[in-house]
Order: sequence, then structure tokens, then C-alpha cells
Amino acid sequence: MSASPFKTRIFSGIQPSGGLTLGNYLGALKRFVEKQDEGIETVYCMVDMHAITVWQDPAKLRQQTREGAAAFIAAGIDPARSILFNQSQVTAHAELGWIFNCIARMGWMSRMTQFKDKAGKNSENVSLGLFAYPSLMAADILAYKATHVPVGDDQKQHLELCRDIAIKFNNDYGVDFFPVVEPVIEGAATRVMSLRDGTKKMSKSDPSDQSRINLTDDADTIAKKIRKAKTDPEPLPDNLNDLKDRPEAKNLVNIYAALAGHTPEQVIADFAGAQFGTFKPALADLAVAKLEPITLEMNRLMQDPSEIDRILGQGADRAEAIARPIVDQVYDIVGMIRSRGR
Ligand code: TYM
Repeated sequence: MSASPFKTRIFSGIQPSGGLTLGNYLGALKRFVEKQDEGIETVYCMVDMHAITVWQDPAKLRQQTREGAAAFIAAGIDPARSILFNQSQVTAHAELGWIFNCIARMGWMSRMTQFKDKAGKNSENVSLGLFAYPSLMAADILAYKATHVPVGDDQKQHLELCRDIAIKFNNDYGVDFFPVVEPVIEGAATRVMSLRDGTKKMSKSDPSDQSRINLTDDADTIAKKIRKAKTDPEPLPDNLNDLKDRPEAKNLVNIYAALAGHTPEQVIADFAGAQFGTFKPALADLAVAKLEPITLEMNRLMQDPSEIDRILGQGADRAEAIARPIVDQVYDIVGMIRSRGR
């Protein structure tokens, strides 16, 4: 990783605003585990404060936060090696988020395509939090002075904003305090698409359950969804270029590659000329082989919610130990008096 005066540290987060999907797994979780296993310091967060930018049923939010944490652990995150916690337990995030609200410009925020997509025609009626969300996301990252952020492709613009906020803060106060983070958007599945429409992202908020694979789906459901996934009548070509205008076929090839740990080129070489009648069952078998153990382990962990809460609490203590001194220094830099307990 790049030479920087800042210590290499990874931060990333997932919203507990619904069940996790294959997109979250391939674009984020699986990559988080790889980074942990490379021996880099890793801090991972269930971002519950982000989730409430859209109204959440409180009991469901708690359940989804625990389920997300269970997914992290089931996928291979070791809470002894990585820091795993939920955002609201570490108040540094909200505090730094406010300071960044005063650094970020309205114009920058107005250009966020995800806000425009989520607000749609309803922009007068969505929460102020939904608009300010990317500045809280920058705070999540910079409260740890994280240098690298693994995410799926849809978070790229938010990370550019995080860089702009760090640069403006450093300039406004004449300091070299915050690192300018590197997005880590790598691999075959940085943008897993809907199984019903290859031009739309696979998402936990899509009204059609057939459009996605959930990490809680059982083996039969996974196989059925893949069998029914929209495709075209052509066999698979012998080179990736010929998938350019076939978004559904390309998506399935990318999913196969990411699950198998191969490149899309290798998958095309193995399946050149194959019909979907052959490719889909192979993909379904692979998906079940990779996902079923995770689902089973998640179910086992969810039997003991208090153990999950304990892990999140311990993670929050470790996260706080890093973030608190950083945010205290920010208060000093911006000119706040901190005189309690002196
Ligand atoms: P969220 O909860 O929407 O998604 C979590 C992670 O999963 C990735 N992802 C995908 N990757 C590939 N294909 C898909 N179809 C797909 N869908 C989701 C996302 O890119 C993301 O990496 N704003 C963030 C959460 C966040 C965060 C942060 C991330 C809050 N603070 C700080 C990094 C650092 C979000 O809503 O992700």
C-alpha cells in the first residue's frame, strides 16, 4: 500500500437497514476478511446512525444490527483481530460528523448521486440526515485517521467527498491532521447487479426479493433465484469483450468469478460456448457451497444475541480508545475549550 506519513489502517461500514445481500458480501464483507487476513489493522462498523436517515422500526434495527454483526463473524471476521462494533456506541462519529457538516459545502453535498437517487422527486420530504449522510461517513473514516477504505463501486463518490473534506479541514486550519483516504475498490464484483435487471445494482431495498440473494436465504432459495435470473438466449462467448452489451450475462460471470476467487477471464475460458442451462446450475452449486456455511453460522450466532452484543460492546471500547483522542485533538484545532475535570 502507498507510502504515507499516516499509519495504514482500514475502516469500512455496512448499514443495518435490511438483510445483507450477495452484493454486500462480494463487494464488501469478503474483501474485509481478506484485508484482516493480510495482517492490516482493520476497523469495521455496523453504521446504525446511517440507517436511521430513513425511518427504521426500532426492534428490527436492533435485530438487523445483530444479524449484520453475525454476518461479519460468519464470513471470517475475527473480533479479536479486527475491531467490530456498532457506530452509535462510539459518540466520536456523531461529534466529528457535526464538525464536518461545517466543513462540507452545500454544493458538494448537492452533487451526491446517491442522495439524488434515494430522494428522487421527494427531496423536500426526506430527512436532513439523508442529505448530510456523506459527511457522517467521512467522520466514520477520519475519526480513526483510516488510510484505506474497501467498498463497492457505489461508494466511490462518497469517498471522493471524504478526501475533499480532509483536504479542506487541513487547509482551513493550516494542519496536516487528516489523511487523504484511498478508496479500495477491487476485484470482479465491485458492482453486483440485480438478478432481474442487469442495469440495476443488487440492493437490499429493491422491492423484488427475486432481484437479490440474501445472506439469510437457504440453499434451495439461492439455487432457485439463480435458475430464474434474467439472461439472454446466447451461449457464453469466448472473450469478455463480447459480454459488453449483455449486462445480465456479464453479471453472472462476475459473480461466478468473485465466488470462485478467479478472474472473469478464467471463467469465460472455462465456460466458452456454454448455454445458461449449463452455466446457471454450476453457478448455483458454487453459490450454495460458498454461502451456505456462512448462513448456517449466522443462524447459530443469532441464537445468542447477548453474545453478539458483548462482542459489539468490546469492539466499541477498542474503537473509542482510538477515536476519542483524535476527536479531542480536532476540538483543540478548531478552538473549543475543553476544561472539564481539570
Ligand atoms: P451499504 O450498507 O449500502 O453497503 C455496504 C457495502 O456493500 C457494498 N455494496 C455492494 N458492492 C457490490 N455490489 C453491490 N450490489 C453492492 N451493494 C452494496 C457497498 O459499496 C458498501 O461497501 N455509506 C455506506 C456505509 C458506510 C461506510 C462508512 C462505508 C457508512 N460509513 C465509512 C465505508 C466507510 C453504505 O451505505 O453502504
